[in-house]
Amino acid sequence: KARLAILLSGRGSNMVALVKAVHGGVLRELAEVAVVFSNKPDAPGLETAAALGCVTASLTSQGRKRQEFDAEVVDILTSYQPDYIVLAGYMRILSPTFIRAFAGRILNIHPADTHQHQGLHAYEWAFEKQLEETKITVHLVDEGLDTGPVLAQHPVDLQGADTLAEVERRGLAVEHFLYADTLARLIRGELPSPTPEPAAASAAVSQSSSE
Ligand code: GAR
Repeated sequence: KARLAILLSGRGSNMVALVKAVHGGVLRELAEVAVVFSNKPDAPGLETAAALGCVTASLTSQGRKRQEFDAEVVDILTSYQPDYIVLAGYMRILSPTFIRAFAGRILNIHPADTHQHQGLHAYEWAFEKQLEETKITVHLVDEGLDTGPVLAQHPVDLQGADTLAEVERRGLAVEHFLYADTLARLIRGELPSPTPEPAAASAAVSQSSSE
């Protein structure tokens, strides 16, 4: 079974969907949760993960230099021998140290088409632009901000969604099945090897803090 390290900073609804998929959904027989880690020791998602029976770990990123903090996180995660690092609302830009430690094995879910929107507040962006449709993206993480090769995308119909809460509700419903489904296909070897995104090289220099 593939060992997952799930990283979160907040609510953890994607983590819950992944854990449920491991316990009795599409990831059953394919994956196990090695650890749920947070850079915020008081993240609600960490408590939820413990209640679901997951091993949890945390290290506060507050006031820490990115490289040094990430080097410690790499050590913590490595001790759980993960096959995949699964970012689930982990609101930190990863340093090259981190990305190189788990090269090609870090996944992220982004609540927009990463070719159109990167960074925070993707649902606000879709709502303010009054999009009739947005997309959820699962991608491999490279050294840019939301620039890595796309593994899967799924549309979200926003017609008639007239509040931000409704946009988020529809989007999260897609996030919650798409992440587990994509991981299952990746582990089964059903996804073609992703080709690097053309924008990756230039975007790598435009990193900025999301905190
Ligand atoms: C999700 O909507 C996720 O796609 C988004 O944060 C939310 C976390 O919710 N991630 C990003 O915006 C990354 N740029 P959750 O804690 O309930 O899973």
